[in-house]
Amino acid sequence: MTKPLASVTAANFDVEKIRADFPILHQQVNGQPLVYLDNAATTQKPNAVIDAISDYYRNDNSNVHRGAHALADRATVKFETAREKVARFLNAPAAKQVIWTRGTTESINLVAASWGKANLQSGDRILVSAMEHHSNIVPWQLIAQTTGAKVEPIPVDANGSIDMRAFEAMLDAQVKMVAVGHVSNAMGTINPIEKIITLSHAIGARVLIDGAQAVSHWAVDVQQLNCDFYVFSAHKLFGPTGLGVLYGKEDLLNAMAPYQGGGEMIETVSFAGTTFNQLPYKFEAGTPDIAGVIGFGAAIDYLNSIDRTAAAAHEQALLNYAEEKARATAGMKLVGTATDKTSVMSFLLEGAHPADVGVLLDKQGVAVRTGNHCAQPIMDQFGIPGTVRASFSFYNTFAEVDRLFVAIEKAKTFLL
Ligand SMILES: Cc1ncc(COP(=O)(O)O)c(C=O)c1O
Repeated sequence: MTKPLASVTAANFDVEKIRADFPILHQQVNGQPLVYLDNAATTQKPNAVIDAISDYYRNDNSNVHRGAHALADRATVKFETAREKVARFLNAPAAKQVIWTRGTTESINLVAASWGKANLQSGDRILVSAMEHHSNIVPWQLIAQTTGAKVEPIPVDANGSIDMRAFEAMLDAQVKMVAVGHVSNAMGTINPIEKIITLSHAIGARVLIDGAQAVSHWAVDVQQLNCDFYVFSAHKLFGPTGLGVLYGKEDLLNAMAPYQGGGEMIETVSFAGTTFNQLPYKFEAGTPDIAGVIGFGAAIDYLNSIDRTAAAAHEQALLNYAEEKARATAGMKLVGTATDKTSVMSFLLEGAHPADVGVLLDKQGVAVRTGNHCAQPIMDQFGIPGTVRASFSFYNTFAEVDRLFVAIEKAKTFLL
C-alpha cells in the first residue's frame, strides 16, 4: 500500500483545522458521521462564504450599479471587488474580462451562441474531447445546427487520456474551435491543455477550456495558458450555486455580440436603435446574483488564506491511498487510469450496478455520485452505464477513505 505523504499532509496541512471551517461536514447521516466524497459534483462551503452571504442580506441588500444611496454603493463595491478577486485568482489582465454567468454551462452556451454565430459557417469543425461533460458538447451541437458547422470528438484511449496523435491528425484549417475540459469530471484525467492550446492556435483555431473540475485543485494562470476562453462554476470552488465565470481575451469579448438583452447590458435604448454597454456589463443582462458574487469573493479570500500547495498534495495523497486500496480490493475496477489525475476515483464493483452501490454506501453515511456523470459518450465508449465516483477535497481525511472501503466491503456482501 502506498504510504500517504504523511510529511506533507501532517506537517504542512492541518486537515482538522480546515474541517472546522466547514459546518456541514459535522453531521450524522443514516446514523453515521457523514463522509462527503461528492466534491466533483459540488464542494462544501466554509463559514466565511455562508457568513458573507448572510451578512449581505442582513446589512447591504440593494441592487448594484444603479442606486443613489449608501446600501447600493456598498453592494456595488463588494460586487465589483469580488470580480477583481477572481481576476487576480486567474491572473486575468483586467477585471472586465471576468463575466459573471450562472455557471460553467451558461458560460459555454454564451461563447457557443455569441462567438459561434459570428465565426462559424458551413463546413467548419468544432473539436471536443470524447470525455467532455454534456455542457461542453450540447451547446456546440446547437450552434452547429444553425451554422452548418460540425462537432467532432477527439478520441480518448482506454485509460481515459486524450489520444494526442489522433488530435494532431484532426487539425486543419477548417477547425475553428477546440473545446476541452482541463480535468475530466468522470475520471479525473488532467488533460494536456498547454499542448492542446499551442497546437490549436498554430492552425488558427480558438480554444475554450472548461475548468469546472480544475480550479478547486490548483492555481490557474490564464495568461500563461494563453487560452481564448476559460470557464468554471463558483459552486465547485467552495462558493455558491448558480454562479459562474467566463474569462475571455478582451478583443474576442469586445467583438462578440451580447448573449441576452435587458437592463445593465445597454448604453442607450431607443426604438431607432440600441447601443450596448462596455465589458463586462455587455454580457450581464438583468439583476445579477449579487449575494452569490459576494459569497464567491469570500470563497476566493478563503482559498488565498490556506496553503494551496499543501492542500493539493493532501488531495493527491488521498487519491493515491484510495487507488492503492482499490487495486487490492477483489472485484473492484478503476475507470480512468491516466497518469495525470486529480482526486477523482471512478470505479465499478463487478456484478453490481453503480446505482445500487451508491445506495448502500449512503446507508453507511458515505456520499458518492453514481451514474454517467453527464459524460454519456465516454461511458458508451467504455460500454458501461456509469460508475461510482468518489471525489476528494482537501477537507477529506485518510480515515474517511478507510470508511469508504469498509462501506464498499459491506456493500459487496449484499450485492455480490
Ligand atoms: C467538467 C464539467 N463541466 C461542466 C459542468 C457543469 O457545471 P454547472 O452545472 O455548474 O454549470 C460540470 C459539472 O459537473 C463539470 O464537471
